[in-house]
Amino acid sequence: MEQTVRVKNIGLRGVTVADTKISYIDGEQGILIYRGFRIEELAQMSTFLETAYLLLEGTLPDKEQLRTFNDRVVRERRLPDFLLQTLKGWPKNAHPMDVLQASVPLLGMADPDLSLNTREANVRMAVRLIARLPAVVAAWHRIRNGLDPLPPDDGLSHAANFLWQLLGKKPDEEDARDLDVCLILHADHTFNASTFACREVVSTRAHLYAGVAAGIGALSGALHGGANARVMDMLFDVLSKTQSPEEVRNWVRQKVRSGERIMGMGHAVYKTVDPRSKILKAMSRKMGEKLGRSRLYDTLILIEDEALKELEKKGKTNIKTNVDYFSGSVYSMMGIPVDLMTPVFAISRVSGWCSHIIEEKFAEAQDKPALYRPEAEYVGDYCGSIGCEYRPVEARS
Ligand SMILES: CC(C)(COP(=O)(O)OP(=O)(O)OC[C@H]1O[C@@H](n2cnc3c(N)ncnc32)[C@H](O)[C@@H]1OP(=O)(O)O)[C@@H](O)C(=O)NCCC(=O)NCCS
Repeated sequence: MEQTVRVKNIGLRGVTVADTKISYIDGEQGILIYRGFRIEELAQMSTFLETAYLLLEGTLPDKEQLRTFNDRVVRERRLPDFLLQTLKGWPKNAHPMDVLQASVPLLGMADPDLSLNTREANVRMAVRLIARLPAVVAAWHRIRNGLDPLPPDDGLSHAANFLWQLLGKKPDEEDARDLDVCLILHADHTFNASTFACREVVSTRAHLYAGVAAGIGALSGALHGGANARVMDMLFDVLSKTQSPEEVRNWVRQKVRSGERIMGMGHAVYKTVDPRSKILKAMSRKMGEKLGRSRLYDTLILIEDEALKELEKKGKTNIKTNVDYFSGSVYSMMGIPVDLMTPVFAISRVSGWCSHIIEEKFAEAQDKPALYRPEAEYVGDYCGSIGCEYRPVEARS
């Protein structure tokens, strides 16, 4: 009799499930590339929208292509009226990630391309989501604070317009550029949990909006995108309980020794410092100095230093800072509230999610499965080899 060989791999670590041309990570050396370009180069020289084009289309745009892409995003920024009215009726204490996730299918219902299963239609839907998710986050923040959503300013860049619609004041150029760099850094990251969720959902032939809604749900978790907000909770907790560097170090020692995780550290793929974390670290230091708020950065450095020492004592030398460790302090200094930090991650990552969804839908069949369908080992009851006997409820003791 033919026997199926079953390979068990809890959590799919190290298992390759498809081919991708979108991004690549070398976890040992701390390298991240999008479509062949190093993240450091893109952070230094590109813009978020140019990077989004690169991810979606596979090549850097020429001048005309970039201008057209920027114009398309600007034209699509306005939210449909029915969505704004709907948002006004939602509970004001709803978490912004839940609001964002719930808004995606609503945007989908009004999208004229929803039923068209062509690459071009999917790119048009992706452009609309890239343009509109920041508007949803900004509108929700204002609505929950009893304010009217602000219309977009067509003269502002993607990041500057988001800060304007969110905070109601035009940001200075440096803040807008820093946020744009943050969006570049978060745009894609291979088969992370949320991207895999998107790809898994659309492998069933579900539409792009269904995939993105799944991605937002996956990103909200504390071990994934939710970690940036948790880092800030941790930081504020430390700042409220400690006065001196030694007290901060003590706080860290206790956490690590009791087996608790330091948020913003460790990674499923990187075994060294996440390259995005290095860029955000420099940004956090620069902003702290500029605003006279260096205590946030200084405390993060103390926590990192002490955590590395303690983890090393436990033989865990691979746990270093990841993208979430410094990003929260940067957002906080821009005036972005803690519970909007994961939504800011999402307004960037939507470009990567959509690129992966399009790759999943339209790449050559041999590069990916028709449908993701892993297996689980059944470890529940059998009641012998014939299955359990079903007794009507009256007959159960
Ligand atoms: C991201 C993360 C889930 C990846 O974990 P992983 O590589 O799969 O490793 P595991 O969760 O299996 O943890 C392996 C060991 O390292 C420890 N560890 C992992 N991350 C740690 C952290 N941030 N602080 C302290 N210990 C950590 C675990 O407790 C575990 O210890 P054990 O073997 O004694 O039980 C994990 O590092 C984590 O929880 N980090 C904090 C949350 C975070 O920042 N998430 C954002 C990721 S971008």
